[in-house]
Amino acid sequence: ILANLPDTFPWKSRIHHFDVIDSTNTRAKKMAAEGAPHGTVLIADQQTGGRGRLGRSFHSPAGRGIYLSVILRPQCHASELMHLTCATGAAMCDAVESACGIRPGIKWTNDLVFQKRKLGGILTELSLDASGNVAYAIIGIGINCNQSAGDFPLDIADIASSLHLCTSQTIDRATVIAAILIALQHMWDTLEDVESTLLRYRQNCITIGQEISLVRGDEIRHGQALDVDESGALVVRFDDGQVQPVQSGEVSIRGMYGYV
Ligand code: BTN
Repeated sequence: ILANLPDTFPWKSRIHHFDVIDSTNTRAKKMAAEGAPHGTVLIADQQTGGRGRLGRSFHSPAGRGIYLSVILRPQCHASELMHLTCATGAAMCDAVESACGIRPGIKWTNDLVFQKRKLGGILTELSLDASGNVAYAIIGIGINCNQSAGDFPLDIADIASSLHLCTSQTIDRATVIAAILIALQHMWDTLEDVESTLLRYRQNCITIGQEISLVRGDEIRHGQALDVDESGALVVRFDDGQVQPVQSGEVSIRGMYGYV
């Protein structure tokens, strides 16, 4: 990884590698709480408790994927960071394209997808003080790299893919990791430009324009995704005619991941 990063890369001396860890995000939180500096990077070869959004797990077998977290220390209120996850998603599309030659799309909010299957995801976690100022942000990135079709557990076998399956190449994870770190650092440098960040996110977001279903607890609502607003919310016109921003919840796209 170090050999693929320029000597001037500002986070180069803050990269920690783990053979096995429960979750790089969990460990990053601990390190951040103990004072680890901005730009601290954690990379694991395997996670035994990889976490995804909405309390899900992230399958993280040894040697097959990229499991990476970065500690950021933005000096601002949480309300000024609503676009952080969007910025990260667009940066991941750039990183995968530059390292592997295929450009994934983003299924709102932050699944990386290619040919309707999930390649990976992003889990952003913030620690706030009592006034809502950000103490630190953890950006966690998981990408399936060298899995073959039979390597995925049954519950995700129909929806998951890997960079290897998409490119028919053996993926050099160190090259992809370096591209991810360079893209994340560039994302950090340009984060203040909210407008162009959101424009880039919208350009990569495959959910916009699609028929979707929104699952919240026992409730399922159908509609059409119209846009992503300045807070990163998905603007949906529901089938009853109401147009509403959706901040959270599971959104399925018709024709994808089993929603028919
Ligand atoms: C998702 O698909 O909902 C997000 C998946 C995020 C997985 C990454 S792997 C590295 C980091 N550590 C974790 O426990 N999760 C993130």
